Amino acid sequence: MPTIYDVAREAGVSAATVSRVLNGRRTVDPEMVARVLTAVRELGYRPNAVARNLRRSRTTLWAVIISDIGNPFFTATVRGIEDVARQAGYSVVLCNSDEDPVKEETYVTAALSEQMAGVIISSSGSVKAARNLLDSPVPVVAIDRQLPRGAVDTVVVDNEAGARAATRHLQEAGYTKIACITGPEGVSTADLRLRGYTEALSAEPVVVRADFREKGGYDAMASLLSSGSRPDAVFVANNLMTVGALRCLTDRGVEVPAEMGLVGFDEIPWADLVRPSLTTVAQPTYELGRMAARLLVDRIATPSAQPATVVLPAELLPRQSSARPR
Ligand code: RIB
Repeated sequence: MPTIYDVAREAGVSAATVSRVLNGRRTVDPEMVARVLTAVRELGYRPNAVARNLRRSRTTLWAVIISDIGNPFFTATVRGIEDVARQAGYSVVLCNSDEDPVKEETYVTAALSEQMAGVIISSSGSVKAARNLLDSPVPVVAIDRQLPRGAVDTVVVDNEAGARAATRHLQEAGYTKIACITGPEGVSTADLRLRGYTEALSAEPVVVRADFREKGGYDAMASLLSSGSRPDAVFVANNLMTVGALRCLTDRGVEVPAEMGLVGFDEIPWADLVRPSLTTVAQPTYELGRMAARLLVDRIATPSAQPATVVLPAELLPRQSSARPR
C-alpha cells in the first residue's frame, strides 16, 4: 500500500507538500501539483481519511526512540524527558532501536502513523528515518546524537571538548602512546569524540571502531593489546565499551594504570568503588532529557520557530585509572 512518503519521493517533494496538494491548498506551485497528482495516479495512492482526520486531533503521546535500552546512560535521560512530559500533560512511549538503523525506521514509521504528538530520538544513523521525520508534520527533537540529515531542535553534550579533556589528561599524566576506541562511523557521538581525541593528540592517532557495546569494547581492547605497537593508555568513547575494555585488561593481567591508562566517556555509578577507581567524562544525563522535553513542548506550541541546538558541558572526573605511577 503506497504511503504519502512514497508519493512524496516519487514526485520529488516533501510529504507536507503532498498533503497540501491533496487538501486543495492553492499555495502550491502548479508544476508541483502536476507532479504530485501524476505520482498519486501512477502509484495508486489512496489517502487514508481516518488517518487524515486523526492527524487533526493529535494524541498526547510522545515517542522516545533510544539507541540502546541496555545502556544505563538512557535511564536518567528518559527520566528527565518523562518528568517534563508529564508536567506538560503528555505521556511517553519508549522505543528501542538497538543501534539498528532498520529497526529505527520501523519505529519512526510507527510513531508517524500513530499520530504521536512529538518524537524525541537518539539516532542510530538511519538517513531514511531522518528524512521521514523531516518530511512529516510531527514535531521532532534530537537528543544525545544529531540526526544524520536535516536541522531539528537538538540537545547534545560537548562531545569534542569532553574527548579533548580526556586525552590531554592522559598526556599530562605522562602517557605517550594513547589509543582511542570509539563507536560506529556516521554516529555523531562516535565521530565527535574521535575528533576531540585526534585534536588533542600530538602523536599519530591509533583508532579502533566498535559498536558502543561491551563485547565490542572487549574485542577492540584485545586487538590493541595484540597489535605490534601496543598503546600505554586508551580513551574509550562510551560506558559499555569501557566496561568491555576493562574486562579485557583484567583477563590479560594488564595492570591499570601502571601498564595501561584508562579514561571512559560516560560516568558509571560504581566508577569510584572499584580499584583502581575509574576516570570518566560525565554527561548531565537527566538535564539532557529535561532540556529535550522542554524543546519539544516549545516546538509543539510554535511549529514555525527556527530549530535550536543546545550544547551542555561534559565533566572530566579524574580518578586512579589514569594516574600513571611516576
Ligand atoms: O553510552 C551512551 C553514550 O554513548 C551516548 O552518548 C550514546 O550516544 C553513546 O555514544
